Amino acid sequence: MNRNIAIDGPAGAGKSTIAKAVAKEKELIYVDTGAMYRALGICFHRQGIDPEDESRIVEALPTADVSIDYINGEQQVILNGENVTGILRTEEAGRMASAISKYAPVREKMVELQQKLGREKAVVMDGRDIGTVVLPDACLKIYLTASVRVRALRRYNELTAKGEVCELAVIERDIEERDYQDMHREVSPLRQADDAILVDTSDMSIEEVVGAIVKLYEEALAK
Ligand code: DC
Repeated sequence: MNRNIAIDGPAGAGKSTIAKAVAKEKELIYVDTGAMYRALGICFHRQGIDPEDESRIVEALPTADVSIDYINGEQQVILNGENVTGILRTEEAGRMASAISKYAPVREKMVELQQKLGREKAVVMDGRDIGTVVLPDACLKIYLTASVRVRALRRYNELTAKGEVCELAVIERDIEERDYQDMHREVSPLRQADDAILVDTSDMSIEEVVGAIVKLYEEALAK
């Protein structure tokens, strides 16, 4: 039986924080698939390609070599030989990733890479289509969510703690737009897999969520 965990859910649900903590506790490799789409988005943006121009994106796809490496257990995303990890977590990169991730050839390329990682190592992988497409036989599937308000507040607190100036209403609108885009695209839209367990983190602390998932994982392994 494989020991992989799939975590899906909307933007800002806390997937990466939770997945990282679960990975540490259960000695699994954390794979952040959103970071791969973000790197691709940056690659196309640098070439001045409009994210809505599907044929140019598909044409440019072979010029984007995305790979994953680990330094002290932390995932690094390498784009054409350059470590772009430090520039991936901006709102703009998130929007670009969301826009280009709706194209089937883009998804095929990323899914292939992600499935390879899932075969080679025991992973906790987070994203939008992990339980439905990338790791359909993961031993545990979690659909992690929280209300839009709570997700926007978390993001707002995270950005202001870094000294960035932002507006809660703008973040909330951004999250709603991204949810809509990710849930309504034709190819692999974000949805809860039939066998995924729903975890609503709106009123839970990080420790509570991690504890709940670790318990579910241990139960799944014991089956
Ligand atoms: O999880 P994130 O915010 O870093 O993801 C950025 C965007 O990438 C997200 O809005 C949709 C896309 N994405 C995807 O389509 N499939 C995944 N497995 C991960 C991310």
